[in-house]
Amino acid sequence: MKTAILVSLLFTVAITSSAKRRNINYDESKIAPYTLPDPLICNDGTKVTTTEQWERVRRPELLKLFEEHIYGETPKGKLNVHYKVVAKKSDALNGKATAQQVMFTFSHKGQKHKALALVHYPNNRKERVPVFIGYNFKGNHCTTTDEWVRYSPYFEGITDLSSKLLQRGTQVERWPMEEIIERGYAVVTMCYHDIYPDVTPRKAQPRDLVRLSNLLPVTEDESSRWQAIGVWAYGLSRIADWVELQPWADREKFCVIGHSRQGKAALWAGVQDKRFKVVISNNSGCGGAALSKRVIGENVEFITRQFPHWFCKNFTKYSMRERDLPLDQHELLALVAPRHLYVASASLDRWADPKGEYLATYHASPVFELYGMKGMTSAEMPEIEQPIMNDVGYHIRQGKHNITLYDWRNYLDFCDKIFNKRGDK
Ligand code: GCU
Repeated sequence: MKTAILVSLLFTVAITSSAKRRNINYDESKIAPYTLPDPLICNDGTKVTTTEQWERVRRPELLKLFEEHIYGETPKGKLNVHYKVVAKKSDALNGKATAQQVMFTFSHKGQKHKALALVHYPNNRKERVPVFIGYNFKGNHCTTTDEWVRYSPYFEGITDLSSKLLQRGTQVERWPMEEIIERGYAVVTMCYHDIYPDVTPRKAQPRDLVRLSNLLPVTEDESSRWQAIGVWAYGLSRIADWVELQPWADREKFCVIGHSRQGKAALWAGVQDKRFKVVISNNSGCGGAALSKRVIGENVEFITRQFPHWFCKNFTKYSMRERDLPLDQHELLALVAPRHLYVASASLDRWADPKGEYLATYHASPVFELYGMKGMTSAEMPEIEQPIMNDVGYHIRQGKHNITLYDWRNYLDFCDKIFNKRGDK
């Protein structure tokens, strides 16, 4: 009994001290007063009252602020990309889909980089279909147990066949392919490590050194140079380039989706690339959909120290100084307008600050309203599992940090509504 108490005490002390070390606050009442910048006020103080003004003046200003302070600059240059369908089967997912594996070979001045997309599109389709585009975390082989699916190039260097990294189907539940197909959508995924291996330079293995970004010219100013999130976002657009060429894909109906760190990348991709008509952030948290100025759950100090390779160096300057940020994440969400945004949180995901994710969606809404669209109308969060599906969507799911079937079903319902698919079948 005594030992149990001691252990639990030590555990509490350990948690408290590590929380202190990381300066993590989880208490709403301890949030210091903060002011959010108004997305509709230009740098020179002018109030935006028309969509024309938003698009000509304010939108570019905000994009520049996000490049400069958070994600870094996206190089403008185009890369050569060669696409090759390396495998195809027309009876995937119990005959419901055609599956393809497509090798992307990026090249520049003799240097090459490879990434492998896994594609499923419905066989039973009368017309072109909407497409979800999103990264997986653990390789294309994590999305299925089907041995037909090849290992993503990032994993090719692994020779130890018993390695956990080569285990198939470890994240099947995150990719309900069959249901997505049955609902009339295509889905294209790729391993995010193929585009930018998610390892700090300190921990890099030789195979990690091959990065898509090595092929692109970077800005001279190191402090606003793009890093992983910028490169992942760029990669999502390169996937969209290929999807655009496909006869089964409806170019007006691309949805970019990402969970957690990939939610951050999906937002940044969706903001920059207007081909994404629906932008979905699943539990993206700090540096994603959550407001930074609340400083609750993960904060800038923690994220930039733990993941120094995600954001541009300038972001680090706001560590313990979130209030000095000249912008906040609601303005990122606002940049999706007049396209459609869906933000989702999970009730136990305190690290990602569900309330901050909701409030950012709410405070982004005036920009959607400028276009006559309906965003979040109340500063009060909805109840758990009571999704709001206006022109902007939001839900908070019961449970932990994850992307589940419940989340996907809501995204499908939202997209059905946006694309007018209800009652189509
Ligand atoms: C960590 C990180 C988060 C991130 C998450 C994930 O928890 O601190 O910012 O969203 O990993 O990607 O799973």
